[in-house]
Amino acid sequence: MADPSVTIVDKQTGREAELPVYTGTHGKGAADVRGLENKLGYFTYDPGYASTASCRSAITFIDGDKGELLYRGYPIEQLAGHSSYLEVCYLLLYGELPSAKEMADFDDTITNHTMVNEGIKDFFAGFRYDAHPMAMLCGTVGALASFYHDSIDINNPEHREITAHRLIAKMPTIAAYCYKHYLGQPFMYPKNTVGYAENFLRMMFGVPSNKEFQPRETMVKALELIMILHADHEQNASTSTVRLAGSSGANPFACISAGIATLWGPAHGGANEAVIHMLDAIADSGASIDSTIARAKDKSDSFRLMGFGHRVYKNFDPRATLIRQMCHDLLAEMDGDTAKFQMAMELEQKVLADDYFVERRLYPNVDFYSGLILRAMGIPLNMFTVIFAMSRTVGWISHWLEMHQDPEYRIGRPQQVYTGAARRDYPVAK
Ligand code: CMC
Repeated sequence: MADPSVTIVDKQTGREAELPVYTGTHGKGAADVRGLENKLGYFTYDPGYASTASCRSAITFIDGDKGELLYRGYPIEQLAGHSSYLEVCYLLLYGELPSAKEMADFDDTITNHTMVNEGIKDFFAGFRYDAHPMAMLCGTVGALASFYHDSIDINNPEHREITAHRLIAKMPTIAAYCYKHYLGQPFMYPKNTVGYAENFLRMMFGVPSNKEFQPRETMVKALELIMILHADHEQNASTSTVRLAGSSGANPFACISAGIATLWGPAHGGANEAVIHMLDAIADSGASIDSTIARAKDKSDSFRLMGFGHRVYKNFDPRATLIRQMCHDLLAEMDGDTAKFQMAMELEQKVLADDYFVERRLYPNVDFYSGLILRAMGIPLNMFTVIFAMSRTVGWISHWLEMHQDPEYRIGRPQQVYTGAARRDYPVAK
């Protein structure tokens, strides 16, 4: 059988271009349009890159119609049920689940890189007391480039691996520092005898003068689940940003900082914070759920229901299904804000039954529930996206590593359809 291909015909000139089609392990094929410009003299036009594969990747697979998410082939439901966040990090980075010895070594390596250079604290002194923690995270992770730039040869696989370890290990420490600066409390050093999630909660909520902060088991479990569900999500906006920044050979800490900036937006990782703002605004204004839904459907109003809809998932978001149950369990145990939770559940049920949302295949996404869980855990709103960034760091750096091993990688540089003024002459006074 001939290799799959598609032929594009230019009806004006009659010229044809045959484009090879690549199929991966799962999912739809992709026509290789690289020869199109030479053969027909056209680029492709694809705002939002919704129809464009920018690379070959073996890390994560999503089937949006089936609501399937696989990390290195393993279904997210199985990883959420049986794995730990650090084991998922190993899987994403190296492609296979670790043996007991590999896991112990990896755990040890990550644990031994959790401290940050004392000089990093000086950066925090420059941030306003009320700076958004995402602004501080973006700046501080970028600043790590100034500590490690000379020791990173991005063409050296060992240097790249150490960078990945440093990032995964230091993220919780930096994330907690952002919160401590915001509160005006002393920074807590990491403690290497406790687990990754517990250590983060300790650094966030502990204070040196009090007895050791001991997070509830349920809190640690909920955070671990949130981190596993957010660890990677193939070529989303922030991951693509990290790849694009990295494609120029830029310092990896600077690339991750670019990813953090992209994640911050409410259409992406900022949605979990935006969900709670939306629920608070509904409660404060006394608006009904029905009128809120009506606003979201009104095309003359820019308001959208935060936590609903997804570019890829068109039936359900499997992460949302997993986290929804945790949300119920946690709120029952922690005596959380049940009134707000009831409101969220009313919104969820009404949206699921509304034709506008059904026709457009808009369902609750992971961030609809993660915001509720984080709030129940007592985590302040402005730290929600920071926790997403901390969890996604492993995904970003796994893609950065994969890109640097890809023989087809080139600097990213999209084309454009120019619509500005036609060439004209500068009006020189005569
Ligand atoms: N509320 C009301 N209408 C919506 C919503 C919403 N949340 N999302 C999409 N629509 C409508 C949109 O107006 C459009 O309608 P029409 O066809 O009549 O013009 C249609 O649905 C398709 O929307 P789109 O903007 O073309 O879809 P997209 O794939 O470009 O955007 C999205 C995806 C996630 C940015 C969008 O659904 C959205 O803004 N949702 C709210 C923000 C949110 O929850 N983001 C978190 C995503 S999950 C976390 C992550 O992985 O980053």
